[in-house]
Amino acid sequence: MRAIVIPKNGPPSVFEERDMPDRRLAPKDLRISVEAAGVNFADLMGRVGLYPDAPPCPYAPGYEVAGVVTEAGDQVGAELAVGTRVMATTRFWGYADSVRCPEHWAVPLPDDVDFVTGAAVPVNYLTAYLALVHCGAAREGERVLVHGGAGGVGLAVLDLARPLGVDLYATAGSDEKCARLEALGVMKAFNYREVDYAEAARKHLRGGGFQVILDPLGPESFQKGLDLLEPLGRIVCYGFSSLVTGPKRKLWHAVTSVLKAHKVNPITLMNQNKGVHGLNLAQLFTQRALHRRAMGEMGRLLSAGQIQPTIDTTFPMTARGASDAHTYLHERRNFGKVVLARAP
Ligand SMILES: NC(=O)c1ccc[n+]([C@@H]2O[C@H](COP(=O)([O-])OP(=O)(O)OC[C@H]3O[C@@H](n4cnc5c(N)ncnc54)[C@H](OP(=O)(O)O)[C@@H]3O)[C@@H](O)[C@H]2O)c1
Repeated sequence: MRAIVIPKNGPPSVFEERDMPDRRLAPKDLRISVEAAGVNFADLMGRVGLYPDAPPCPYAPGYEVAGVVTEAGDQVGAELAVGTRVMATTRFWGYADSVRCPEHWAVPLPDDVDFVTGAAVPVNYLTAYLALVHCGAAREGERVLVHGGAGGVGLAVLDLARPLGVDLYATAGSDEKCARLEALGVMKAFNYREVDYAEAARKHLRGGGFQVILDPLGPESFQKGLDLLEPLGRIVCYGFSSLVTGPKRKLWHAVTSVLKAHKVNPITLMNQNKGVHGLNLAQLFTQRALHRRAMGEMGRLLSAGQIQPTIDTTFPMTARGASDAHTYLHERRNFGKVVLARAP
């Protein structure tokens, strides 16, 4: 296979195209010819060298793809037969012309959904769904705050929050992003570069707080989030974006940030009636039944037109395209999902 690899950790310019050996298929595996691959923040963390689960270099990043099944192990069901258009999660190696994955990571892509849209769904929507519905258990009428509201996960949360009838609030890094979020239905978006969002939220809510906070940022926002929770409120931690300060790793900053991570005291949680939940999607990929069910649900919502990912930009599936996509995300320019797509 031809892959877009990270030969060594470094800035976005490190990407190289290389021929890499094809992996052998197990009886329940598929090989997918990749038409589009989603770009995720974790890919940036892996590239700079701040993602402990990443394989040794050289490897290709990529947690999700859309494409066509070109090979299927002999225990793969008929619904994923050779020739089926699919979307799938992958564990690395999505930035390539083909990728192998177990069958329970893939679902058929509806006929009227293009590959770029398909590649934008798995990671952002599974994360948003599990964070909002399962871990956060958000209910109608509750106030939910999502950080990174204009990112891929943030906009997926907005998409899923609408039918639940929750009141969504968000933070984002510019007035323009905040205005766009509010135009899409966010009750109030706070530009964290201009205001202390915690103070602004308290003021806006006349002293009230949130029932659910979705936090992918890190220790500082976690502490603020705990303070902003209403009694019986839940905070869901699913990221550590604050570790990444730019296109290169700053090890000292990373180490001190990790050391600052708040130690949760169960007695305090008990006395304040607050809950903390962690979520790491990649660590759930091995939970076959859970992952299959959640992917099936995303497939159904997509078929029914109930989820519509916001695609910000599509870059070509080349080393240069991957480099430009990563630079774009480091510069925080995206409003929605960034995807790499094979030239037609
Ligand atoms: N645990 C899991 O299973 C899981 C799964 C998926 C994603 N995540 C996490 O969820 C977060 C969002 O992911 P995503 O895919 O939605 O992100 P994304 O689409 O790549 O969006 C990135 C956005 O995050 C904001 N941001 C905050 N801190 C940043 C930083 N240090 N460097 C660059 N951008 C930063 C920026 O927007 P603003 O400045 O406008 O806010 C930026 O536009 C990440 O922390 C990611 O690791 C976790």
